[in-house]
Amino acid sequence: MLREVFSIFTCVAWVGFAIYLSPWMKDISHEVEAYNATTFQYPVPLSTHNEEHTRLVQNLQRSSGKWDSNHPRHRLLTALYGYTSYKDKNLAEVNRWRNLYKNVPKQQRTMLESTVHYTRKLNTIEHLLDTNNELARSIVDHGLWFYNISQSELDEFIKESESQKRSADKTSVSQGMKHFVRDWADEGHEEREQSFGCILKSLAQTSRTTDRPLRVLLPGSGLGRLAHEVDNLGGFDVTMNEWSTYMNLAYRYVSSRSIPNSVPFYPYIDWWSHHATTEDLQRSITFPNQVIRPSSVLLIEGDFTTVFAEHTGQYDILVTLFFIDTARNLVSYLETIHRLLRPGGRWVNLGPLLYGTAPFVQLSLDEIVALSESMGFEFQETDPTVGNITVPGLQVRGLDVAYGRNARGLNKNAYQAQYWEAVKR
Ligand SMILES: C[S@@+](CC[C@H](N)C(=O)[O-])C[C@H]1O[C@@H](n2cnc3c(N)ncnc32)[C@H](O)[C@@H]1O
Ligand SMILES: *[C@@H]1O[C@H](CO)[C@@H](O)[C@H](O)[C@H]1NC(C)=O
Ligand SMILES: *[C@@H]1O[C@H](CO)[C@@H](O)[C@H](O)[C@H]1NC(C)=O
Ligand SMILES: *[C@@H]1O[C@H](CO)[C@@H](O)[C@H](O)[C@H]1NC(C)=O
Repeated sequence: MLREVFSIFTCVAWVGFAIYLSPWMKDISHEVEAYNATTFQYPVPLSTHNEEHTRLVQNLQRSSGKWDSNHPRHRLLTALYGYTSYKDKNLAEVNRWRNLYKNVPKQQRTMLESTVHYTRKLNTIEHLLDTNNELARSIVDHGLWFYNISQSELDEFIKESESQKRSADKTSVSQGMKHFVRDWADEGHEEREQSFGCILKSLAQTSRTTDRPLRVLLPGSGLGRLAHEVDNLGGFDVTMNEWSTYMNLAYRYVSSRSIPNSVPFYPYIDWWSHHATTEDLQRSITFPNQVIRPSSVLLIEGDFTTVFAEHTGQYDILVTLFFIDTARNLVSYLETIHRLLRPGGRWVNLGPLLYGTAPFVQLSLDEIVALSESMGFEFQETDPTVGNITVPGLQVRGLDVAYGRNARGLNKNAYQAQYWEAVKR
């Protein structure tokens, strides 16, 4: 539970805006170090979707492992409880705003009503919550079906949680839903280009063949758009991994949508800051702007550092996007990245260094490079048009990127995200 709060919290802080950078960059060749394709054997075959679903359902059994808040089924039920409570939680907030408004003296309220119709605005928002609640309800329904959980079990779990004063997590639900914009709406296009451009370009230039696709793993993949973009390049077998059950429920839901832009919702109504117009605040966004077709992309749910215990040397490329700073123990992340790559395999990273609420260690960029090198990573020269070298002497480039931004918002935060490619020796 602590962990869930921790990682989502890290996401919450990533709200920003950035200067647009062209993804079209100078050519530089990106080789995954040559290995003998005739003799090289991956340690184990990749799982199929069916095998992974069987494993998932198995792990979700109450009888597998100790029944506490860390049990996968408990964590899943907690997220289902969260989405189920969307309306209640958000209505409570709107009601709090209504009560705060009562502190405004009557004469001033009269003025506000006749000019901006403030009560009407509150009423409208309350009404729009219904659409978001329908989406939350659909996420729950799809999740119950996908994970084979009955509504009565969820009802029982909610009753028990409420009796134990365990409240639903409004923030994690809101963040999960806002990621539909980042990953699967037209509105997120520019933000995706800023972040995905350099990664996709590097992967596109990697030599590979369709009869021997390269294996790519993306841990902390959120709602999976980058994983699907990598898949679209062709010649890659893509595995994504995500720990948050809020994210996984949202991803399972978006994967099930077969009509483009068929799901509307109002991502901005729960935060009234930074809006130029009330129309912006109340605007609807639709998704998915691209339907997810059956593909090579396999989601393996769970903690990156433990769920791949048997996948040592299994991957040609690891891509970490806005991920490494979510670690409680950064050293374990780096060790896991190194372990999962085959010799000569490549690690591609883009992200800030925004440490969460309780990391065991907090390293600066130069320390991360030094530690990675000591583990056997060799940092490669990268395309200068990605961005400028951040620290003279280190092969790391900085670029301004937004995360979870409102395209029409009046706030313009950005991260100086760090890009590097390192080869495992
Ligand atoms: C800042 S978000 C980035 C999501 C996605 N890469 C993107 O750019 O939109 C970090 C993600 O890492 C996930 N995460 C945190 N710890 C993890 C772990 N130990 N294993 C797998 N995923 C984890 C979080 O749940 C969260 O979805
Ligand atoms: C790869 O291994 C095979 C079998 O051992 C060998 O015949 C071949 O020469 C090797 N290729 C390279 C490029 O080393
Ligand atoms: C779904 O769960 C029910 C009750 O727990 C069980 O009887 C059934 O076999 C499960 N179905 C699948 C496909 O796993
Ligand atoms: C790199 O640095 C130069 C000189 O300081 C600057 O003009 C340019 O905008 C920087 N490029 C990027 C991508 O930040």
